[in-house]
Amino acid sequence: MGQHPTTQFRTDVLIIGGGLAGLTAALHLTERFRVTVLSKGGLMDGASARAQGGIAVAMDEHDSAAEHLQDTVIAGAGLNDLAAVHEVVDNAREAAQWLVENGVPFTREHDDPARFHLTREGGHSARRVMHAADATGRAIQETLIDKVMQHPRITVREERVAIDLITGAKLWRTGKAARVCHGAYAFDRATRQVETYAARATILATGGAGKVYLYTTNPDIATGDGIAMAWRAGCRVANMEFIQFHPTCLYHPQAKSFLISEAVRGEGGILRLPAAPGETGYRFMPDHDSRAELAPRDVVARAIDFEIKKRGLDCVYLDVTHLPEVFLHEHFPTIAAHCREYGIDIARQPIPVVPATHYLCGGVVVDLRARTDVTHLYAIGETACTGLHGANRLASNSLLECVVFGRAAAADIAASPPAEVPDLPAWDESRVTDADEEVVISHNWDELRRFMWNYVGIVRTNRRLERASRRIRLLQDEIHDFYARFRVSNDLLELRNLVQTAELIVRCAQTRHESRGLHFNPDYPDPLPAALPTVLTPENGR
Ligand code: FAD
Ligand code: SIN
Repeated sequence: MGQHPTTQFRTDVLIIGGGLAGLTAALHLTERFRVTVLSKGGLMDGASARAQGGIAVAMDEHDSAAEHLQDTVIAGAGLNDLAAVHEVVDNAREAAQWLVENGVPFTREHDDPARFHLTREGGHSARRVMHAADATGRAIQETLIDKVMQHPRITVREERVAIDLITGAKLWRTGKAARVCHGAYAFDRATRQVETYAARATILATGGAGKVYLYTTNPDIATGDGIAMAWRAGCRVANMEFIQFHPTCLYHPQAKSFLISEAVRGEGGILRLPAAPGETGYRFMPDHDSRAELAPRDVVARAIDFEIKKRGLDCVYLDVTHLPEVFLHEHFPTIAAHCREYGIDIARQPIPVVPATHYLCGGVVVDLRARTDVTHLYAIGETACTGLHGANRLASNSLLECVVFGRAAAADIAASPPAEVPDLPAWDESRVTDADEEVVISHNWDELRRFMWNYVGIVRTNRRLERASRRIRLLQDEIHDFYARFRVSNDLLELRNLVQTAELIVRCAQTRHESRGLHFNPDYPDPLPAALPTVLTPENGR
């Protein structure tokens, strides 16, 4: 055994994550820098490629950034950082324009192809969502991947799992010490070797953490890696209790986490209870909220959860059978085709749906330039907490946030004095062997996701949170021991990050003694008069 000869790479900017946030930053950096993008899977494996509804931009002449801001703040239950909301909604048109200029084929109006078709989603007071039919993310990713792959100054390394950031201390002239990021270690899934990446600046763009939960719309890569790495490196994280549950995930034993877009409700879809034979199921949403199916997501998801639990149902139904078949196939071709695979003809049968974990509103604390607490380390996209979403994200605001903050991070790196990169220590495998009991990992993974779903789901109570917290401590001990003794593997790295992320979610949830937005705890049913974000600081942090 001994020190493994790790391969060392040097780059100007290291971007960990190749979703919309990471690719936007990469394409904005190339004028001055060589960029390396690491991706755990392929570039289509993130949440970005799955986005359906679209990207929110106040485009219509009867709409405005001010109204977009207001809707964002209403959805965010008063916890949004107004400067971040301004940053995003005020730059929305420019962000969309950049995507259009790059060639993203957004759907246009039939009768006026110069205009983009705008769809409607819950919480939006106007039609405001630009889309490419019901596969907006796929269209965006395919377009940007094409650009990135052709670019001579961007190197993409897929199947690389970033393990940890490499940090050091720097003494400023003022005498103040700062933590500085010099790059990261990454595990090559194919060779099972650990590589070292040295960079002047590092950007975390690792997406969300839906895999902390048993049922999620998220892809397999969404294991909270960026948040866990940043936390271990000394960054603050915030608002982790605000997990968004999407109300309508397809309910079918063989369908793995398939979303039925909110745009389906936006275009007139109705939520119904199961029907007696020959009848139409009862429309229950007006009993819960005057905005009915177009209430913000937290309200709709809680209403469905309430009906399912009260009546002992497996699912509720999303009914579009009253909408013209031609319209359905034109606007929702992916959803229609996917449902057909499971024997559901959406023009004739209501779609069985359940809520599932969808989006993490919290994450690594960043400022308006996407800077974290660690010098030369940035966080963008779903990994970051910019303050935009507050206690609940307005639909279709996250693709927009990826572009706006991806550009902001690139601009800040370009404007900063170049950093020196010291020689970095090689990955040390001198004290580890190959794991002898992989079952520990699969068992713990399953246990974690199940109790997070049951105890830290749509409705949390103090007792459930305490139960979850106790179990997380046990898992952390086991994983810590496993990590110290055995060689890293993809599953071990992901489990370590999932458990760390779960701990942060539960700690934030326990800190919030009120119900607000996505965090609903019947032990504290009402919101407090003053709303504050939940910010956690690591012991080795600032
Ligand atoms: P992702 O696109 O998830 O990319 C993350 C990248 O990081 C991937 O390349 C992954 O491989 C990589 N990665 C992760 N961990 C590591 C690691 N350790 N090492 C190396 N690489 C790593 N939002 C909207 O605004 N509109 C929508 O219509 C919409 N629809 C959605 C539909 C679905 C089904 C889902 C799941 C989400 C949807 N969202 C939507 C949310 C939105 O898609 C995401 O928030 C956004 O795409 C996140 O982009 P990202 O670049 O931060 O992360
Ligand atoms: C959807 O299409 O319902 C997803 C939109 C989003 O998550 O913003």
